[in-house]
Amino acid sequence: MDEFRAYRIDNVDGEISAGFARLTIDDLTAGNVVIRVTHSTINYKDALAATGAGKILRRYPLNGGIDLAGEVVTPGDAGLPPGTPVLVNGCGLSETADGGYAEYARVDSKCVVPVPEGMTVQQAMQIGTAGYTAALAIHRMEQNGQRPENGAVVVTGATGGVGSIAVDMLDGRGYEVVAVTGKTSETGYLNSIGASRVLLRDQLDLGERPMEKAEWAGAIDNLGGDYLAWLTRTVSYGGNIASIGLAASPALNTTVLPFILRAVCLLGINSVDTPRDLRLAVWSRIGGDLISGRGTWTRLLIGPSPSMSCRKRFRRTWTVPLPAGRLSRSPDGTPSRNCRAAAQFGKRGSRGLESPSADFNVN
Ligand SMILES: NC(=O)c1ccc[n+]([C@@H]2O[C@H](COP(=O)([O-])OP(=O)(O)OC[C@H]3O[C@@H](n4cnc5c(N)ncnc54)[C@H](OP(=O)(O)O)[C@@H]3O)[C@@H](O)[C@H]2O)c1
Repeated sequence: MDEFRAYRIDNVDGEISAGFARLTIDDLTAGNVVIRVTHSTINYKDALAATGAGKILRRYPLNGGIDLAGEVVTPGDAGLPPGTPVLVNGCGLSETADGGYAEYARVDSKCVVPVPEGMTVQQAMQIGTAGYTAALAIHRMEQNGQRPENGAVVVTGATGGVGSIAVDMLDGRGYEVVAVTGKTSETGYLNSIGASRVLLRDQLDLGERPMEKAEWAGAIDNLGGDYLAWLTRTVSYGGNIASIGLAASPALNTTVLPFILRAVCLLGINSVDTPRDLRLAVWSRIGGDLISGRGTWTRLLIGPSPSMSCRKRFRRTWTVPLPAGRLSRSPDGTPSRNCRAAAQFGKRGSRGLESPSADFNVN
C-alpha cells in the first residue's frame, strides 16, 4: 500500500515533538485489522499528548488520536467485511498503539466496534470519547439501580464535552437533571440540552460535615476535588456517583460515612480499558435508547462560537501543528458548541487544513 499521512508524536532526548509524517501500513503498531480512518476527535488528552504537557504516550513515536472511525480494509479476525463502518475509542490508541490521526490505523480486532446501525462514522465521532464516557457512566449507574424515579441526577462540569452529553442523555432517559457549571452565561445552553436546573459552581454551599442534606439521587462528576467530596456528602441513600474526571483536582477528601450510612456508591469510570462486552453494550445503547431519534449529536453541534475560555485554553494547550483535516461544522456552519470537533481525514487536497486558530475540542 502507498504511503499515507500521519500526525506523529515523538520524544527526542526528553523533548516532545509532533508533526506530519509519511508512513506505510508496516510502520504502524501491530494489529490484525486495518482501518481506513475518516474521522477522529480532538480531546484534552490529545493536546496533552502532543504538547507533552501530560504524559499520555507510554512509547514513542506514535500517531496521536485517542479515537477513530472509518471503514475496514483488512478484516483480520474481526469478522467484519471490508467496507464495514467501524470505530475504536480508547483501547491504548495514542498511549501504547498508533492512534486515529492518520489515514490508516492497524488495531487489535478486540478493539473494533461496528458503528451502530443508523449512525454515520461522522456521528460516531461527534459522540466520540466524551459521549462514550458519558454513556458508560449512565450505563454503570443504571446497572447499579439508578432510575429516573429515584430523583434528580446532578452533573458537574456540565458545559464540557462529557458533561454536555451526559445532561442530554440523562434528560432523554427521563431523569431530572441538575447541571453544575462555572459559566453564568451558559444557563440557557444547559437548559436547552435538558437541564431542569442550573447551579453556579461558585455559589454552591459545599458544607463541611461528613454528611449534608441528601439532595441528589445520583451524580456524574467530571471535576474531582472538593466537588466530588461535596457529592459524596449530598447524594441520597443508595445513590450512585460516577467519577469520571479531575478537571478541578485529583484529590478526594471525604469520610466513609456516606458509604456506610447512606449506601452511596462511588463508581469509577474508565473509557480506555472497558472490557469488550461492556464496550459493545454501551455503543449499542448510544445507537439506541441513549441517542437514537433524539438528534442529540446535532443539538450539541448547533450553537454560537465556542466560549472564550475554550479559545484561551485551546491556545494555551495546543501549540503544535494541528492534525490534517477540518473541523466538523454544525448545519449552519458554526463550530461546535462545546469545543468538540471531529477532525476529518480525507483524500489529500479534497479537504483543507483549518487555520490553527480554529476552535478545537480540548476535552
Ligand atoms: N474517565 C475517563 O475515561 C474519561 C474520559 C473522558 C474524559 N475524562 C476526564 O473527564 C473530565 C471532563 O472531560 P471533558 O471531555 O468533558 O472536558 P472539558 O470539555 O474540558 O470539560 C471540563 C469542564 O469542567 C469544568 N472545569 C474546567 N476546569 C475546571 C476547574 N479548574 N474547576 C472546576 N471546573 C472546571 C468546565 O465546565 P463548567 O464551566 O460547566 O463547570 C469544563 O467545561 C476531564 O478531567 C477528562 O480528563 C475522563
